Amino acid sequence: MSGLSGKTALVTGASRGIGRAIAQRLAADGALVAVHYARQDDAAKETVTEIEQAGGQAFPLRAELGVEGDLDSLFAGLAEGFGDRPLDILVNNAGIATVTAGSIDQITPESFDRIFAVNVRAPLFLIQRALPLMSDGGRIVSISSASTRIANPDLAYSMTKGAIDVLGRLLAHAVGSRSITVNTVAAGIIDTDLTAWLRHMPDVAAALSSMTALGRIGQPSEIADAVAFLVSDDARFVTGHVLDATGGFFLGPPVG
Ligand SMILES: NC(=O)c1ccc[n+]([C@@H]2O[C@H](COP(=O)([O-])OP(=O)(O)OC[C@H]3O[C@@H](n4cnc5c(N)ncnc54)[C@H](OP(=O)(O)O)[C@@H]3O)[C@@H](O)[C@H]2O)c1
Repeated sequence: MSGLSGKTALVTGASRGIGRAIAQRLAADGALVAVHYARQDDAAKETVTEIEQAGGQAFPLRAELGVEGDLDSLFAGLAEGFGDRPLDILVNNAGIATVTAGSIDQITPESFDRIFAVNVRAPLFLIQRALPLMSDGGRIVSISSASTRIANPDLAYSMTKGAIDVLGRLLAHAVGSRSITVNTVAAGIIDTDLTAWLRHMPDVAAALSSMTALGRIGQPSEIADAVAFLVSDDARFVTGHVLDATGGFFLGPPVG
């Protein structure tokens, strides 16, 4: 029997990238996974099919976050997929970046509101509505970024991830009496559609790798493995923590 057998999990933004890898890993560990996504039906279907072909259980759940009524559709789909079962694991992974549009000279009130709506407001109120459905001893994990501790020019994005780090610590304190743990994984540069531009800029990719202690860009499965630890029984006494899964990104000047 796998470690998450009989558990339910909601992974937001699970049609592609890091979220897909997390959904695959939690399903492989035995959980029934809600593969949440915004628009890309085919990608979500592919995630679900891959999970099922590997012997796991999952269902797609479409609900664009950051728009009017977003959580109503999400929780309706969740009720349909899980029935009366409680929610055991919530992974807040869905997120967007502003890239150059998030710099101090280009950020606008509209782009600021949009990125905060998706990256901060949505997970906060998703958690608020999920908590009454969660079993005691449940797990909440959110995906943050190394960009909270470096001078990333996309400052709007970094600000949203800073808010997620703070949310994790404060929430851990608030829900600890129910034995619910709340943790955050700070991802480094990971090869996904979000960073696809790096595939066309090998010089930049090489420079970023040289700023990483482990000397390379990460894979989505490497973030999924960190999440799998935090939702496992092995991490039952770990809460309010930001786990650095960046391969040692930007720890100091390149060595050697
Ligand atoms: N990649 C990196 O280097 C990196 C580094 C640090 C942190 N992160 C964080 O890791 C998380 C996942 O990133 P990723 O690189 O895997 O991204 P990605 O490949 O662009 O995938 C994004 C996922 O989020 C969903 N999504 C996007 N906007 C949404 C919205 N408004 N409502 C609902 N779902 C939405 C997408 O659904 P659709 O398929 O339907 O569009 C997709 O499933 C993000 O929070 C990101 O900030 C990434």
